[in-house]
Amino acid sequence: MQSDIDRILYHETTILSRLDEMAHTIAKDYEDKELTVVSILNGSFIFMADLLRRIPLPLQIDSWSVSSYHGTKSKGHIEFRQNSIADVIGRHVLILDDILDSGLTLRAIKDRLEAESGAASIRSCVLLRKKLQCEAATVADYIGFEIPDEFVVGYGLDYNERYRNLPYIGVLKEEAIRRHAR
Ligand code: IMP
Ligand code: MG
Repeated sequence: MQSDIDRILYHETTILSRLDEMAHTIAKDYEDKELTVVSILNGSFIFMADLLRRIPLPLQIDSWSVSSYHGTKSKGHIEFRQNSIADVIGRHVLILDDILDSGLTLRAIKDRLEAESGAASIRSCVLLRKKLQCEAATVADYIGFEIPDEFVVGYGLDYNERYRNLPYIGVLKEEAIRRHAR
């Protein structure tokens, strides 16, 4: 698994110290507010666990299972795998996702929350944002790291469901992309 990585972008210690900073900002922004975190699975499961343990607020959690990617390309539309969403009427919602690429996933999630949830506010937080040639479909309010437009895996992020359990974030070798294509 490690030999499929071209280079490491962020080691676990670097990620965790960035999460300390992000958690501090988020905790200040949501102090005295009723917060529900909507985390987008599977990609954000490690990010969610590490970030939320650093936020000392009485928050609630809803996890959504969503899929938008096939291989290394966004399909352009997303599938929600559950029908009902948690009751967040009058609450402040913070969406957590692993990475903002085209922005289509986050846009669709925000649209659904805006249409159906009755939330008092909706913001988003991503661990990674890719620097793209063209503009993304939406912006994120909290961003961990800006990365180049390359395919990355680890720390929750996958390529065709592999590599999620790598403890760091790394760029996948072209050769591994071809070998595990489907
Ligand atoms: P978007 O809809 O194009 O912004 O894509 C967002 C989703 O695609 C994320 O939630 C990830 O699951 C996945 N994704 C985008 N870029 C990468 C990547 O470089 N590695 C792994 N997954 C990615
Ligand atoms: Mg994925």
